Formats: sequence, structure tokens, C-alpha cells
Amino acid sequence: MEKPMTTETPDLTHLWMPFTANRRFKEAPRLLASAKGMYYTSTDGRQILDGCAGLWCVNAGHCREPIAQAIATQVSTLDYAPSFQMGHPLAFKAATAVAALMPTGMQRIFFTNSGSESVDTALKIALAYHRANGQPQRTRLIGRERGYHGVGFGGISVGGISPNRKAFSNSLLPNVDHLPHTHNLEHNAFSKGQPAWGAHLADELERIVALHDASTIAAVIVEPMAGSTGVLIPPEGYLQRLREITHKHGILLIFDEVITGFGRLGANTASDYFGVTPDILTMAKGISNAAVPAGAVAVNNTLYDTVINAGDNGIELFHGYTYSGHPLAMAAITAALELYQSEHIFDNARTLSPAFEAAAHGMNGLPNVIDVRNLGIVAGVELAPRKDAPGARAAEVFQRCYDAGVLLRYTGDTIAISPPLIISQEQIGTIFDVLGKAISETA
Ligand SMILES: Cc1ncc(COP(=O)(O)O)c(C=O)c1O
Repeated sequence: MEKPMTTETPDLTHLWMPFTANRRFKEAPRLLASAKGMYYTSTDGRQILDGCAGLWCVNAGHCREPIAQAIATQVSTLDYAPSFQMGHPLAFKAATAVAALMPTGMQRIFFTNSGSESVDTALKIALAYHRANGQPQRTRLIGRERGYHGVGFGGISVGGISPNRKAFSNSLLPNVDHLPHTHNLEHNAFSKGQPAWGAHLADELERIVALHDASTIAAVIVEPMAGSTGVLIPPEGYLQRLREITHKHGILLIFDEVITGFGRLGANTASDYFGVTPDILTMAKGISNAAVPAGAVAVNNTLYDTVINAGDNGIELFHGYTYSGHPLAMAAITAALELYQSEHIFDNARTLSPAFEAAAHGMNGLPNVIDVRNLGIVAGVELAPRKDAPGARAAEVFQRCYDAGVLLRYTGDTIAISPPLIISQEQIGTIFDVLGKAISETA
């Protein structure tokens, strides 16, 4: 059935929009009315090619029938079931399906509703594990500069994006330290795939360990590939080095795979892609193809056993959400994971990544392009910031692309490209043609 298209602009007064320049947006709103496959339709009736999978989350494309059907059936079968001291079969089935895609030994799944909740859950599980393991003094958390781990107080504390922290700086978690980020244009500009330079930056963890003593450190959390900060690809050997150092000191390693999980790099997870297994892995976004808000945390089986077996027979972890394992999310997850498999969507991402890489690096040489970086079906095109107006150039390029029918993202002066994984080679061409033209036309 054709969906009705809204053409009227609604009253924009009451909605406080997240991570949005509200005043500017409301002066010139960009409103989407419907979506199908690779395209949105805007309220002014234009087809917009989705170059960023919504917010890195619609991996199988929009409004996929099997997922929509599963949700529709579920909402009239079991709309809600309590998640505390009660269960429903689909939550166990969904956990089994998610566990099957996780690295070996990480088959225990805790459900959340978002990436931010997954991160805060992961941090709490890390602390609970050390307590259960007889090391309650291990409470220090190590994040990384430029890391994005959502917007909970835990997430912004270990996160490293300064505007996200600034207004809350007196209220962040105590006992947090940060690794340096790995972005370096002098050494790595225009790297194709993983940059060769920078593995040694993981050794900074040894310095932090020496400063605080390993016995006080609970966990290190990083995005194996950082998306939201503007696409930062880990240098070759960097993640392996982090894993070696964390192992050596009994520190847990958390991979925040909210973006990289479910095919973005052409593998089940970034852990799989890089061959580095963390102790805890956070997910959201693609887990349900974004059709229902959902997230999860995969935990090493031994960690789970340690926490579960530590106490008496009471509640082992005082943590959870009213909507952990929500039936609609479980239906969406189960259907999405089946769809990913039946349509070989992660394979498509892997097969297309060389063409995607070539098209992205076609931006090299255009005016003001100071870097292109890529991995899997993700690319970042960094522009030189305008004097006294950081971000303005990328904002203009973003708007030009939108006006020309391609939706992208920008962070600072980096344009991020991360389309649904069902994209065709022709659509990859369209995205970069439009982007290239927009960059060329922007002073
Ligand atoms: C790596 C990472 N962690 C956490 C989050 C937060 O997810 P959410 O917005 O669903 O809370 C994001 C969102 O982009 C993310 O990229």
C-alpha cells in the first residue's frame, strides 16, 4: 500500500530536537516523510538517496517487509512482557540469534534499547565482574580522545568529544582516563583502509597503567573503528596491541560496536574483521535494522559465569531496563538477522568495499579535501576548516548534497558516508558524484 505523503509542514515549535541546531533547522527544515530500500522521500516529494543508512543503522535498507511483518505480528500477539523476573520465548530466541554472530566465547547477551544504554551497561558489567572476581578496587575506566560512546553519564565520561562533555564536565564519572586518538594527517592522510602508522599509540596504555597501577583499572573502551567523531580507522596492529596490554594487566577490553556491528565492515563484527576479541562488546543500530530501538551487550561467557555465580541465589546484577528484551525489539532483531543472512548482506558489503574505496578516494584532489579515509562501507572525507568557522564548509557541502538528493552526515569538517549495505555500485557512483560536485562548488 502506498503510504500517504505529508506535504504540510507541521508546527515545529514544541519538539526539542536532539544534536540539532534547533533555531537554524526550524528556519529551513529538512523533513522526511517515508522511505523504501535505499531512498527516503522528503515532505516536498523528492527522492533522497540514503548515503548514511539513517544514522549508520539501517543496514538492510528501509521498510523491509519481513521486519515490518514480524513487528506487526508481534504487536498483536504479545505487545509487552515484564523483563524482570519474567521472560518470553522470543527474547531467548533473539539472544541466541545475536550470540551466533558474536566472536567465539562471547555468547551471553544483555538487551538494552540504545547504544548509550549498551555502553553504560557494559561499563557496569565490567565493574560488577571485578567485584565478583575479588578485585573491587578495579574501578578506573579508560576511554579515548575523540571516542563517542553515546550520551549517558558513563558514555560521555569515557567518551572524548569535548562539546559533548563540556556542559557536564563537573558531573562526569570520577577515575576516568583517556588514551590519545589515532588521527594524524601528517602520517596517514589518504590511507586506503587501515593506516600503516600509529600502532605505537596503543602503548600509551602502558603509561596510564604505570601511573595508576593496573590493580585500579577495570576496563578500556574503544570503538574499533570510530564513526561519529568523523571516521577514524585504527592503524594496523593497534587493536592487537591494546588487546595484548589489557590481557597482560587483567584489564577488560570493551569494543563499542554500535556502528561496526552487523556488517558495516563486511563481517559480523569489527572484532571478527580485525581478528581481535574483546571481553565485552556493545551493539545497537543495525541489530534491529533500526526498525525498533534496540541494543545489546555481548559478554564473555566466563565473565558472565563469574558474576552469576558470585552471590547467593538472589539477583546477580542490579541493572536492567523496563524495555530490556521488549517483544517488538526482539521481533525486529530476529527478523533483521534472518534477513541479513538470507540476502547475504554482509557479503555484499565485503564485495562492494573495493569499489566503495575507489569511489571515495576519487575525492582526493578536489578543492579543500585534506583527507579521505575508508574501511568496509564507511568513508570519511575531511575538508580544510574555514578560518574562524570550523564545520561551516562541511555543513554547506552536506546541504548541497541534500538539495541534490543525497543524504550524508557531517561531524566538524568531515563528511561521513555509510550507506545501507544493500547499495549497488551505481548508487555508490551517484553518492560520490553528488558529493564531488558539492565539494567543487563550495568555496
Ligand atoms: C560507537 C557508538 N556508541 C554509542 C552510540 C550511542 O548510540 P545511541 O544514539 O543509540 O544511544 C553511538 C551512536 O552513534 C555510537 O556510534
